Amino acid sequence: MRISLRRDHPVPLYLQIKAAIREKILSGELPPYYRLPPDRHLAGDLGVNRSTVVNAYRELKAEGLVESHVGRGTTVCAMEYAEDEAWRHSIMPLHWERYLRLGEGERGREITRFFRSVRQEREVIDFSTCYVPEFFENPRLHAYMGTSFFSEMRQEYYAHPCVEGLRSLREAVSEYQKSRGIHAGYDEILITSGSQQAIDMMAKTFVGPGDMVVVEDPTYVIARQTFAAQGARILGIPVEGEGMRLDILEGVLKRYAPKLIYTVPTFHNPTGSCMSRGSRRRLLDLAYRYQVPVLEDDPFYDLRFEGDPVLPLKAMDHMEHVIYVSSLAKSVAPGLRIGWICAPHAIMDRLIHAKKISDLATSGVVQKMMDLLLRGGVYRELLEHMRSKLRIRRDLLVQCLQDSGSDLLELTPPQGGFDLWCSFSGEVHATKLLHRVAEKGVLFTPGEYFTLENRMLSCARFSFSGPREEDIPKGVGILLQALRRYSRDCAFHPRKEREETRPIV
Ligand SMILES: Cc1ncc(COP(=O)(O)O)c(C=O)c1O
Repeated sequence: MRISLRRDHPVPLYLQIKAAIREKILSGELPPYYRLPPDRHLAGDLGVNRSTVVNAYRELKAEGLVESHVGRGTTVCAMEYAEDEAWRHSIMPLHWERYLRLGEGERGREITRFFRSVRQEREVIDFSTCYVPEFFENPRLHAYMGTSFFSEMRQEYYAHPCVEGLRSLREAVSEYQKSRGIHAGYDEILITSGSQQAIDMMAKTFVGPGDMVVVEDPTYVIARQTFAAQGARILGIPVEGEGMRLDILEGVLKRYAPKLIYTVPTFHNPTGSCMSRGSRRRLLDLAYRYQVPVLEDDPFYDLRFEGDPVLPLKAMDHMEHVIYVSSLAKSVAPGLRIGWICAPHAIMDRLIHAKKISDLATSGVVQKMMDLLLRGGVYRELLEHMRSKLRIRRDLLVQCLQDSGSDLLELTPPQGGFDLWCSFSGEVHATKLLHRVAEKGVLFTPGEYFTLENRMLSCARFSFSGPREEDIPKGVGILLQALRRYSRDCAFHPRKEREETRPIV
């Protein structure tokens, strides 16, 4: 067998022999059942030790390319596939299930489909979307973008930007974050395609199969699914009043060694709750004590329209335990897909690598647009407008619900963000109620969708960002009418007492 070896090469001789034989097998030069020369002979021919050839054959065996039998020596393995053209007559459709990776069954797919079909069928008053559509109607934005955007656009923004993001935007974010009490240099900031990509990069960098990740329960579902997609075991900490139950968190940290705590402390999605300063300190202490990194997801910080701001965990963290993720998706527009991650130097290289293999970089054109918005002060003006809109809508929604429905539901008005969380009284099942009101053109998101184990069946999230002011009273009217009727039906058909279960022994 002709094999040429390079003795001056850093690759060991046994691997060179293995690679040469492997190539001959795969190219068909050595057919199935071909008998390789006995190791002693090949070693003699090549002028190497016998153990070098033995090791090369062992590697080939490990790859399933050859097999050895006493008396028959080492032969090339047979292939599964016929060499003739017979396969052409029996081509089968791909059986996809065989190829798909095992993963979390995608909960939520049903409700997404349901929303889509309702929206296609009729005009809806939509309390399920998280987005202020009027952002785009703002004349100030149009005027600014018309003058500055195109004159600032240079060829370089259309080329591949650096993976970390445009330096000017990273500097602008670094400067902007100071208003949130976060003092981090531009080199601790990485621009991402929305905060969702930042969460995904974190999951891919930190979480592997079987690792534990702590999340609030309920939580932003797609973050939970992102960790689950890496094979994580998810531990949910109940959210009550002003954030996650820290006593339960401590119990979890004591017993398990989670890889990450994921939290949305400011205007939590879906409950709208905001963790107090004291609780944030306590959460940080727990992270320090039990040595767990915290992923703080903060897309709503700029959308406070009432009360005093509470600084992010990142601003209070003096031990570099917090990785901070934020975005302009909620405060400007989700379609722009611009977010960022602010992380300690120690993990920056790993995150940059995760970003590179995910999408190389975020669009340079959109980054420049955001850079102009942040620097020119227009962002702050847009925010003012956005906050006042949100406040008006929140007030209207809360007032309409309380005026006519205080006997049917409980709510705590949030001081910012998009979300109002409601608990219905009695036996009301929010998903069933959704089906009733959807027929009449109103959508909201049932609470169970956000929970780990389909809990909170009689809770719901109402996002007040989407519907226009004139539609809110009408939407609430439809909702309350359906809710009243549903509550009456529940009272007529009280839930059957569950029969006792006796084990069969
Ligand atoms: C809490 C939270 N984090 C992250 C995201 C994703 O935001 P982005 O559009 O910036 O990817 C959302 C979107 O709804 C969210 O609610």
